[in-house]
Amino acid sequence: MTTQTGKWMKRDRWCGELRREDAGREVVLNGWVQRRRDHGGVIFIDLRDVSGLAQVVCNPEVSAEAHAAAEGVRGEYVLFCRGKVRLRPEEAVNPKLPTGEVEVLAEEVGVISRSLTPPFEIQEESGVDETLRLRYRYLDIRRPDLRDALILRSRVTGEVRNFLSSRGFLEIETPMLTKSTPEGARDFVVPSRLQPGKFYALPQSPQLFKQLLMVAGLDRYYQIARCFRDEDLRADRQPEFTQIDLEMSFVEPEDVISLMDEMFAHLFRLFLEVELRVPFPRLTWREAMERYGTDRPDLRYGMEIVDFSSALAGSGFKVFRSALEAGGRVRGFKVDGLVSPPRRELDGMVEEARRLGASGLVWMVREGDGLKSPVAKFLTGEEGEALIDASDLREGEVLLLAAGGEEISPVLSGMRDHCVRRFGPPRNEKFAFVWVTDFPLFDWDEEEKRYKSNHHPFTAPSGDCLDFLEERPLEVTSQSYDMVLNGVELGGGSIRIHDPALQERVFAVLGLSREEAEDKFGFLLEALRYGPPPHGGIAYGLDRMVMLMAGRESIRDVIAFPKTQSGGDPLTGAPDAVYPEQLRELRLRPI
Ligand code: AMO
Repeated sequence: MTTQTGKWMKRDRWCGELRREDAGREVVLNGWVQRRRDHGGVIFIDLRDVSGLAQVVCNPEVSAEAHAAAEGVRGEYVLFCRGKVRLRPEEAVNPKLPTGEVEVLAEEVGVISRSLTPPFEIQEESGVDETLRLRYRYLDIRRPDLRDALILRSRVTGEVRNFLSSRGFLEIETPMLTKSTPEGARDFVVPSRLQPGKFYALPQSPQLFKQLLMVAGLDRYYQIARCFRDEDLRADRQPEFTQIDLEMSFVEPEDVISLMDEMFAHLFRLFLEVELRVPFPRLTWREAMERYGTDRPDLRYGMEIVDFSSALAGSGFKVFRSALEAGGRVRGFKVDGLVSPPRRELDGMVEEARRLGASGLVWMVREGDGLKSPVAKFLTGEEGEALIDASDLREGEVLLLAAGGEEISPVLSGMRDHCVRRFGPPRNEKFAFVWVTDFPLFDWDEEEKRYKSNHHPFTAPSGDCLDFLEERPLEVTSQSYDMVLNGVELGGGSIRIHDPALQERVFAVLGLSREEAEDKFGFLLEALRYGPPPHGGIAYGLDRMVMLMAGRESIRDVIAFPKTQSGGDPLTGAPDAVYPEQLRELRLRPI
């Protein structure tokens, strides 16, 4: 076959699939040079394609031409190689490589294309600066760990499609150029040329469209949907990301939850050979906050938070007493994986708690029948005993306590994370799923002095809260559910409001006037007047899901072309200025 760069032979096998059984067969491989080693006359080339690596041996006694061609080869050159598969000598077997028992004795080698010297070595975990890796992402993706993550992502996505379509879901696309739908973040906006001065918003999620599809009677919808949110970036947040988004008609929370249990059990069995125990455990939001201090509890670990208020009701320690008198509580947990730590470790924990916003943190270490602690002198013997009993504290073990109102929950949750990171407590399981349900419908925004939706404004309140929606909004719970895996929020959803009158009441609590509600969501309110079915659904962050399945720390490691912390793409240079003509056409003024 001839190409721009000369003759080449097309492969008949993949590099990564060669095995013992192939010994004796003639093969043609195409791939990239991972490594070239000259061993005194014989040249070894590790040839890589998407399936893996194969070792090619160029021996001048077998083929002088192949050997001569191999001499000019450099890293990342693209080659074809024809030769015979043979078993490696015993001492040369590489047990780490699936193809490690064999090698290809080259009879013909040719360069298909050349490469400049790559700016970093193409190998696993090369420790190279991420911006440089993103700048040359096409080289970065040649690294097996990134390549494998993208392969896993593709397979997971395909299987999600199979699963949902086999359950009667229809894959339907919704617009990218649309009107702002609030999910709590800022919109990315796109100016309209045809309607100067007006803007589309890129969807933060397909929320309203999927509800309209239920009104349309399609019954079950899903989409692998791109979403756009202009928010501060973190390891698990990108400005554009992908959701597995779905919606179902005539359902209760239970229907969505049990279907998703089934889907995750299926995916983990298929791709990770992990048998998950379903149904996944469930906690109400209140229980999660009480026992773990967060709505994203990491159930791989113990260290449940306990309320010690009753043991300390008459405490001589002023901080505890005044917190209790003010209606607060003293809560804390026993640290797992830590026995008789040095003083500086304990001081470090107090510092960490301060960093997390606490005014203080009290530690206590069991010593014999008593407790060693900076506040020990304020504790009576009975109080000490009660604390030891309530926390089942053994010799040398550490109890952490914080006093105050609800604001201590995030501190205790942060301390739990700190202990996990620092002391490596025993882990119950590798993948700990949990549903967190019944979130509050509203939160109070102190800065803006108004109620906000905890999830989004279309979430249905729990049936028993309808009577006091306006009077006591903060006590209203919702028919909502988040799926949490290892402390990461994988997905969230809810039953939606399908009664237009109830939707208007919720808008009113959110401080939207009739006119504003009409202006922003008139199309939804109108649709709800044309026979909406009861409906609900959920959306998962596909990036986060694959990140956890691939054992990665950042969603950037499972996205082909992610953005940096500042929202840029070092490869293309986006975002970038546009030509003055473009601005003129859009009737925008340059800044
Ligand atoms: P929510 O806003 O909770 O719900 O989003 C659902 C899931 O999407 C993922 N996610 C993100 N992933 C990466 N980067 C981001 N910036 C980002 N933001 C969110 C999370 C999250 O759990 N329409 C509703 C769903 C519904 O009610 O059905 C919604 O979008 O994993």
